[in-house]
Amino acid sequence: MTAYSRRRSREKMSWADLRRGIAQLSAQKWVTIGAYISLLIGTFSTAVIPLLVRSIIDEGLNPNNPTQSDENLVIRLSVLMVGIAIVGGVFTFLQGYLAERASQWVAYDLRNNLYQKIQTLSFSYHDRAQTGQLMTRATSDVEALRMFIGQGLIFALNAILLLLGITLILLALNWQLTMVVIPALILMAIIFAIFGVRARPLFQAVQERLGVFNTILQENLAGIRVVKAYNREAYERQRFQAANYALRDASLRSTRVIATIFPSAFVIATLSLILVVWLGGNFVIDNRLELGELTAFTTYLSLLLVPVAQLGFIIASASQASASASRIFNILDTENEIKEKPDAIVLPPIKGKVAFNNVSFRYFSNSEYVLSNVSFVAQPGQTVALLGATGSGKSTIINLIPRFYDPTEGSITIDDIDIRDVTLESLRRQIGIVLQETRLFTGTIRDNIAFGRPEASEEEIIAAAKAAAAHDFIMEFPQGYDTPVGERGVTLSGGQKQRIAIARALILNPRILILDDSTSSVDVQTEYKIQKALDHLMHGRTSFVIAQRISTVLNADLILVLDKGRIVASGTHQELLENSPIYAEIYHSQLVEDSAEAVSSLEEINP
Ligand SMILES: Nc1ncnc2c1ncn2[C@@H]1O[C@H](COP(=O)(O)OP(=O)(O)OP(=O)(O)O)[C@@H](O)[C@H]1O
Ligand SMILES: [Mg+2]
Repeated sequence: MTAYSRRRSREKMSWADLRRGIAQLSAQKWVTIGAYISLLIGTFSTAVIPLLVRSIIDEGLNPNNPTQSDENLVIRLSVLMVGIAIVGGVFTFLQGYLAERASQWVAYDLRNNLYQKIQTLSFSYHDRAQTGQLMTRATSDVEALRMFIGQGLIFALNAILLLLGITLILLALNWQLTMVVIPALILMAIIFAIFGVRARPLFQAVQERLGVFNTILQENLAGIRVVKAYNREAYERQRFQAANYALRDASLRSTRVIATIFPSAFVIATLSLILVVWLGGNFVIDNRLELGELTAFTTYLSLLLVPVAQLGFIIASASQASASASRIFNILDTENEIKEKPDAIVLPPIKGKVAFNNVSFRYFSNSEYVLSNVSFVAQPGQTVALLGATGSGKSTIINLIPRFYDPTEGSITIDDIDIRDVTLESLRRQIGIVLQETRLFTGTIRDNIAFGRPEASEEEIIAAAKAAAAHDFIMEFPQGYDTPVGERGVTLSGGQKQRIAIARALILNPRILILDDSTSSVDVQTEYKIQKALDHLMHGRTSFVIAQRISTVLNADLILVLDKGRIVASGTHQELLENSPIYAEIYHSQLVEDSAEAVSSLEEINP
């Protein structure tokens, strides 16, 4: 394939995206049809008015023989004109309203579909995706496509109808004069087409840069505290300004191309008008044309400027919409890496046996293996503790259990069922997980605890909060469980957020509980409280715990020691202490030692 034909096929593909965008209108079939019928009636009304003007002049006023003017005819035609103008107005309104209505619905559906798609896309997609780009596609790109579907398309039809209609009328009025006009029209069509194709990549660049701009803005708003703490205001301001400048620059470049369309069209139109007036004037002098005819001809000719100007706008809007449509469908067409099998079964209520069978994993197809040949079995009700240096793959292992990612090689089974054979919903419903990074949602503390089970009762919410050692501090807030929590839970401390997140996992009453470093930001005393509550709660549940404290590890039925993605030792605390030098080393150097004493001292106060 040559570079040229590749470019051609890409070009063709992108206009296909525009067609696909337009096809979305089929969901609004009747509204769309209503809009187009209104358009036809409205356009027709506009088009007949000059014909009536001609009749008033040539037949009513009779300029060649003013004594024989027909006053009655003039009045009747004038009344008719007013009537037609009113009908035209009503239908022009209807056309605008219905087209807008259809396009708003299309945009509504597109935004919903985009959101749904973004939501179902797997972790690996979101690892790479930029929030700002996704947001731009769901807002600005949808709007650009909507503008074209709502106005551009209908104006296009309107313009083409007017062009054809007026050209036909011009031909009927005087074909010699029309011959002057037609080459000008063809020239304009060519200019428009060239500009449309040239503008498309420029519009794509605008949207791309808007995405970058939004990403920087979003990142900065979310991280404003870090920016301030590190005195990075000036640097970030510069980064923002650079993105802002790039956006302005791209917008101006596309505007420059689009702005040249109108003047060139008007120059051509004016030249042809001058030519017509000069030729037509001569015809009138030679008595080959009536004055009224020439007036009608030039009136129609100036009416031609309306669709010509519209077409310029439409070409701009079309190339913008086509650039945006490509960006929208690019997301909608993304293959989800985590796919449910078509014949996926609903995972029945599980006992909680979890087995890793020779699991190897890498995040990207060409990257290093993060896990190599990981095999272990957790029996129902067991507590598994994962140990290992930072980056050794602990979080990665637990991310595979709810299928946030799929193993590159090997398999994972729950109760001997391969987790790739079951529906995601039935799998994740039975797994409670507290991620390393806690995130709460706007709403009350109650809403956040009941996040995974909005139907949970007050008692269940309080029980979960108590188990997560969160009840006491929640009750200290004046509004208790109704305390509103900001976007990132800014009204809560780090440890408080973690405890809410633990309560959120516990309320699912899951058979499998996963806690990724979830007690890292609480004090020893609180950790002990959580631990006690969890010991009780973990009873009968298979739990995976990643923690830095000895107390957690001591109680585990199975300890997995990871090093660079491999299990280098496994067993209970006693077994490992005797057999594994690596474990002994971690035990003495990496685990937080204070908790053993703290626990025993707490045990005395609070048996
Ligand atoms: N989303 C990701 N995309 C690509 N690589 C990743 C991703 N998450 C983790 N990694 C890489 O995989 C390796 C294991 O990371 P993982 O998060 O599992 O470590 P960890 O044992 O949980 O460490 P920590 O104790 O710091 O939480 C690291 O080298 C990390 O760089
Ligand atoms: Mg981790």
